[in-house]
Amino acid sequence: MNRIVTLDEFIIHRQKDFPYASGELTGLLRDIGVAAKIVNREVNKAGLVSILGVANTENATGDTVQKLDLYANDKLIDCLKNSGECCGIASEENEDFIKIPSVESKSAKYVVVFDPLDGSSNIDVNVSVGTIFGIYRRKSDANGDCKLEDFLQKGSELVAAGYVIYGTSTILVYSTGRGVNGFTLDPSIGEFCLSHKDIKIPERGNYYSVNQGYYLKFDVEMRRYIDYCSDLNLRLRYIGSMVSDVHRTLFKGGIFLYPNTRKFPHGKLRILYECNPLSFIVEQAGGKALTCDLERILEIEPVDLHQRSSIVVGSPAMVDDMKNFVEKYSMPTPYVENGAATNGAKPA
Ligand code: AHG
Ligand code: MN
Ligand code: MN
Repeated sequence: MNRIVTLDEFIIHRQKDFPYASGELTGLLRDIGVAAKIVNREVNKAGLVSILGVANTENATGDTVQKLDLYANDKLIDCLKNSGECCGIASEENEDFIKIPSVESKSAKYVVVFDPLDGSSNIDVNVSVGTIFGIYRRKSDANGDCKLEDFLQKGSELVAAGYVIYGTSTILVYSTGRGVNGFTLDPSIGEFCLSHKDIKIPERGNYYSVNQGYYLKFDVEMRRYIDYCSDLNLRLRYIGSMVSDVHRTLFKGGIFLYPNTRKFPHGKLRILYECNPLSFIVEQAGGKALTCDLERILEIEPVDLHQRSSIVVGSPAMVDDMKNFVEKYSMPTPYVENGAATNGAKPA
């Protein structure tokens, strides 16, 4: 029988891969693992509202019940603040970033970004939700407070990223830029145990994942690509929780798309908290992630903490197909004059 490897053991073992590692990153990943266990406990109780109370009411023991996404946000912030392993936090749930003063004169060199609960509209109906996180090395001077520039980094600068899914089982997947590994929570011992070693995304898959209800709101090249997926008899799967949709795509292969719509002309999903960490994981597993304008997600230079983007992410060959469609259908329509095509629009 194989010996069980816990997340903590694995992280400590991997620290040796980084010759100058001080243990700070190791500590941060462990803090996130602890917060994930606390959030998991609460997510699992979500159906017990009649006993525990609904959000913004008092529960049986007199505590005010919070919405789960705010609860998850508080727990993550608490765990990260207490350890002092990072100097700042930016969360989808907070307008501004949070500065963390140095603990015991330790000047922390990392900042953490996260979406505490992704797909939160699914909680009430028992569908998988998750936490997404990213870790960057700070740019600002290590002796002062963290600054906005520490968070507005390209995804390619991520030192580590990952997610936790609270689903039929609870799984934590992360990467420090040397492959991707997954850990399943064993509730009987309360530990995340290595269950998916060196995850690789299939070159192609049988699924495409998009909110097809918005089809008419998408640009023509996206509509053509979606038609092509349908023509190929690919199966449509859309949970409405990006972390879960990308998780399936990572394991089974396929493509996930959230294009621009009329309501969200620059895409809906947030670069810092959703697009970058999940694109980092998918790329580390051999996949690709682009915007609908064909920019590599991890090369976007964000200018705002809550900036959004369109995204197409998944199996490498399928993202390449999508790229070909966009290039083909966004080309100017050839103007035919006297039987000879010119490669431009009709002259005015
Ligand atoms: P969150 O719950 O963090 O606000 O994120 C929800 C996001 C994402 O998880 C999902 O893919 C997308 O919103 C679903 O949007 P639509 O309902 O517009 O399809
Ligand atoms: Mn989200
Ligand atoms: Mn969220």
